Amino acid sequence: MDLSRITLRPFKQSDAQDMLSWAGDDRVTEADRLKTLKSKEEALAFIERNSTPHLWMRSICVDDRSFGLLTVYVGSGDERCRGDIGYALAVEYWGKGITTRAVEMAVPKVFEEFPQILRLQAMTNVNNKGSRRVLEKAGFTKDALMRKHYYLKGEIQDVVVYSILAPDSD
Ligand SMILES: CC(C)(COP(=O)(O)OP(=O)(O)OC[C@H]1O[C@@H](n2cnc3c(N)ncnc32)[C@H](O)[C@@H]1OP(=O)(O)O)[C@@H](O)C(=O)NCCC(=O)NCCS
Repeated sequence: MDLSRITLRPFKQSDAQDMLSWAGDDRVTEADRLKTLKSKEEALAFIERNSTPHLWMRSICVDDRSFGLLTVYVGSGDERCRGDIGYALAVEYWGKGITTRAVEMAVPKVFEEFPQILRLQAMTNVNNKGSRRVLEKAGFTKDALMRKHYYLKGEIQDVVVYSILAPDSD
């Protein structure tokens, strides 16, 4: 995979069909908070509902077609120093370095766009080796293992917290 084919951009309504092809796949959604989408209409509604200032949501594109998403929840109030990052990618593109590249592209953009964010963090199930590896390759540091931290789709989760700090914020 030529990683220059990968871009991050806001979702467009015309991405709905492509989005359905990966966000309609339980293998993509089971490890994250995404609900598996069932129709193009649900994909459109998802795009519209999540296009808000509190969420920096980008489509992970290959040749400008949507094959995944990367989100950053922008903290507010006493948590304005923090952003929470998440991502998911179409199964046929797993293992090619695409999500790592997307995270590497997103991190400096988010720090630049939101100067109040000093810390980007990600929480991932301790057994999600692919996701943990993405974060490690993208320069995140493991902060902690939090046992029985929350429920995801009815299952209690042991999660690892990773973070990366804004340049010069140490
Ligand atoms: C996790 C996910 C985003 C990874 O995306 P990806 O584009 O395949 O990731 P990359 O190719 O950039 O890197 C994956 C790394 O994990 C490694 N990896 C993947 N599965 C692994 C496993 N079961 N055991 C060990 N390593 C694994 C790969 O070998 C690669 O590391 P390497 O480059 O050192 O070989 C993707 O699998 C996905 O969408 N999963 C479902 C949603 C999800 O889990 N989201 C995260 C929720 S916190």
